[in-house]
Amino acid sequence: MTSQHPADPTAPAATGAGRRADGWWRDAVIYQVYPRSFADADGDGMGDLEGVRGRLPYLRELGVDAVWLSPYYASPQADAGYDVSDYRVIDPMFGDLADAERLIADAHGLGLRVIADLVPNHCSDQHTWFRQALREGPGSPLRSRFHFRPGQGADGELPPNDWESVFGGPAWTRTGNPDGTPGEWYLHLFAPEQPDFNWDSRAVADEFRSVLRFWLDLGIDGFRIDVAHGLVKAPGLPDTGTHDQLRLLGNDVLPFFDQDGVHEIYRDWRRILDEYGTDPATRRIAVAEAWTPTVQRTANYLRPDELHQAFNFQYLGTAWDAGKLRAVVDATLDAMRPVGAPATWVLSNHDVVRHLTRLGDGADREQDLRRARAATLLMLALPGSAYVYQGEELGLPEVLDLPDRVRQDPAFTRAKGTGAEGQEGMRDGCRVPMPWSGTEAPYGFGPVAEGPSWLPQPAEWAKLSVEAQTGDRDSTLELYRSAIAARRAHPALGAGDAVEWLDDLPTGVLGFRRSAADGAFACTANTADQAVRIAAPGRLLLASAPVTVLDGELLLPADTTVWWAV
Ligand code: GLC
Repeated sequence: MTSQHPADPTAPAATGAGRRADGWWRDAVIYQVYPRSFADADGDGMGDLEGVRGRLPYLRELGVDAVWLSPYYASPQADAGYDVSDYRVIDPMFGDLADAERLIADAHGLGLRVIADLVPNHCSDQHTWFRQALREGPGSPLRSRFHFRPGQGADGELPPNDWESVFGGPAWTRTGNPDGTPGEWYLHLFAPEQPDFNWDSRAVADEFRSVLRFWLDLGIDGFRIDVAHGLVKAPGLPDTGTHDQLRLLGNDVLPFFDQDGVHEIYRDWRRILDEYGTDPATRRIAVAEAWTPTVQRTANYLRPDELHQAFNFQYLGTAWDAGKLRAVVDATLDAMRPVGAPATWVLSNHDVVRHLTRLGDGADREQDLRRARAATLLMLALPGSAYVYQGEELGLPEVLDLPDRVRQDPAFTRAKGTGAEGQEGMRDGCRVPMPWSGTEAPYGFGPVAEGPSWLPQPAEWAKLSVEAQTGDRDSTLELYRSAIAARRAHPALGAGDAVEWLDDLPTGVLGFRRSAADGAFACTANTADQAVRIAAPGRLLLASAPVTVLDGELLLPADTTVWWAV
């Protein structure tokens, strides 16, 4: 069951200094497909693999290099598929293995790589191992594959330690013994339906080696590793001594995150990935979802014998502010250089508020869109690889008024009654299905007009559909297409490990230059709320909003980014 790997999937190949020759992922634009919400081929209101396959030409035309698919495995969907009950089976809601093979083959035929989402920190409470562990009771070998512990207190009625779940409440749930008496507790850093694996167990490590090979054999080009920083827990599972533990991420290393022991696992996986070939044009890669306190700690995952990329959440979390952006770009490039890994840049994904809404002030949608487009153009100009989340190329906003009854994010259910509910920290609003065409919901998401979609789409999305934007030069979709094409064509864009900051720019304007043997490039972004006059650093290439250059000068409007050929 192997499928063709594209030898050079991105014709015409870019020719810039050091590009592609060093590895396709170093300058790749990687598009995140959230399969539930991308395209629904069978009309049940839920996206599926056939839906994705049908839209691959769209992705090819958008110009991206690879597609990362959020989980499609067998799952009770307690956390939208991040609760896996069988790692080798496609959930019937998304299709079957034959669909996956067809999808990979078609993607490769179009020059697109396919990255799977691997979920090794936890599985579903419906996974056969966990069910058997519960049945067998305390002390069973199956229990040692998870973190089962007796509770504290006279009758074990208190959780074994003070760890909190990312989704709220304690990170422990008590089980019942086979004879009906209250039993041990098990650890779940996320929902109770997501028991954490014990990575000290040899069976767990062996299983994941085998799962990796299963998907590599099927033709997958790489993995996004879910919660890559969480697999190893500090010995003895010590208390943190605090509440609101996740707020600490960013300052401190928690006993359940970013433990040094995780790196041994990634060295092992790197050896497996390398077994599938080390040709830079076809190499299988892994990208870490690692929320770490600093970019320097993120770089630890990217040492030459570990993973290839990690998401840059420090960049995602940076405000639209020239000074702060410059600082995070410098910190990122400085952290990546010693390990030789490409920087990555990301603004949106399925877990965070869409960047249009996050960076905007919410008062005026046009204004927010303007800033989102400027932020995108800045991101795509930076050296390294960029991640685009489905729908951002349409300028989709976060949906902030979903009725409670349709919301499925376990973070919402877990927060209910705690006073923390509301839209903050909730993730359904960025997962609303894509609008493709037509004037009535589901806007071509499914095969029939007025058919179902698992989350309702706002009425205003008719004018944001792919169909509505295609061919409209001013649309956000065409801006993404032009930017990705220009990025591919210009020798100084894409891979690299440095920028040359342009000084002498007005306050609030960020500018940098990038040079290659056969051409230089400059980017200027105005993050301030006033237009400013600057000298044109070159020939206008692309702008996120209309601009005019007169006599070598440009009035750079607020919230606007301009690309220049120098
Ligand atoms: C990651 C995923 C998120 C999921 C969590 C638990 O952070 O991106 O969607 O809920 O892991 O698997």
